[in-house]
Amino acid sequence: MFSYHNNQLNWHGRDVAPLLQRMAKELAEKHHYTGPFWVYQEALLSERLRLLEEGLPGCKFYFSVKSQSNLSLLSLIAAHERFGADVVSGGELYRALKAGFTPQKIVFAGVGKSEAEIAVGLDLGIRSFHVESIAELRDIARIAAEKGVTGAVSFRLNPDVEVDTHRHITTGKEENKFGLSEADFAQALQIVKASPSLKLVGLQAHIGSQIFDVAPYLKTAEYLKQKFTIASDALGAKPEYVSLGGGFGVDYQQLEGNAVNFDFAALAKAVHGLFANETEMHFEPGRFISAPLGILASQVRHLKERTGKTIAIIDAAMNDLIRPMLYEAYHPILPVTRRSEIKKYDIVGPVCESTDTFAHGREMSALAEKDWLAIGFAGAYGSVMSSTFNSRPLIPELLLTEKGDIRIIRKPQTLEQLLANELM
Ligand SMILES: Cc1ncc(COP(=O)(O)O)c(C=O)c1O
Repeated sequence: MFSYHNNQLNWHGRDVAPLLQRMAKELAEKHHYTGPFWVYQEALLSERLRLLEEGLPGCKFYFSVKSQSNLSLLSLIAAHERFGADVVSGGELYRALKAGFTPQKIVFAGVGKSEAEIAVGLDLGIRSFHVESIAELRDIARIAAEKGVTGAVSFRLNPDVEVDTHRHITTGKEENKFGLSEADFAQALQIVKASPSLKLVGLQAHIGSQIFDVAPYLKTAEYLKQKFTIASDALGAKPEYVSLGGGFGVDYQQLEGNAVNFDFAALAKAVHGLFANETEMHFEPGRFISAPLGILASQVRHLKERTGKTIAIIDAAMNDLIRPMLYEAYHPILPVTRRSEIKKYDIVGPVCESTDTFAHGREMSALAEKDWLAIGFAGAYGSVMSSTFNSRPLIPELLLTEKGDIRIIRKPQTLEQLLANELM
């Protein structure tokens, strides 16, 4: 994915220095913009989708829009037959539709859907609501009945599976806020059975993120198989699909190779063995697709010497990419041109918070002011989590197409836009 040739950074076959120069020039000419920006590679997106299509034959994928929601990227995904969208808000639903996903290829997850969001989903006839509580199921039943339609629902189940991942991103344990518990499941089946305005179309579980081991998926699949049999017997019809959620891990420390750290063949064999032709198999990958396809391009502004280290203040900040501050997440920070001297750096942003630190005491090639840096694996939970904290406008997003053209796929936010909704 990342390598150096003659001390020049190469990212998936592209020399980064000339690429960033071209992009910076385009932004300056078209938008009078100088500053950090996101860069995505269409070739990488195609490769990630193909890896899944080939790795899990016969399965369907609902891309987790929360991981990356740029319209252009979503529309490229929507063009793939086996891909739909997994959304968690009315805003994401709107985006998915705009990007070209048909309602039948959209599933709607989330623990706190509003009545308005449920109403929109019902009006559109989306594939399914992934139901996370009894209260939500009752809301869908009532609103669907009022509208005289049938609400397609799937149960998000909580298999109470332990996953070896960061405490902020595990979701499948009983104590987490997500999903229906064992007791909820039995009650939910009764509600569907008694309600003419509900149809159970799927069973789903999402056990967490950054998972590298097949075992927890297999445990979850077995759990879902039991529930599949119970639901089929209780309702007299088999659910149309079973979804094992997302969570395929990406190793942010591994610069070489194609960022596949998961045994898809073992998973494919197990799920086909368990469910054979009984139902559709779904997955909801986010990070696996979107993390590798993006970098955050940023320049060094100032250097400050401190005892035993140098502080490098760069032009990107926590409002652009918050993962290191929020989850203690590691991102490679790669000088686009490498020098032979190695030094120790704190890499920090300009936001007025001590927590605005991308890396503490990181050993890397010596830096100089104006050097370009590529913060790698930044395509997932990057731009989507950006804010305008410190009144820093949202930064632009650029796509390098397969043909080698540069497209600005989100313009830099202007100061007028930043204040547009405020009244005085
Ligand atoms: C229900 C659901 N599906 C899919 C995903 C995507 O997870 P990942 O990006 O780890 O693949 C998430 C992420 O939190 C989720 O909550």
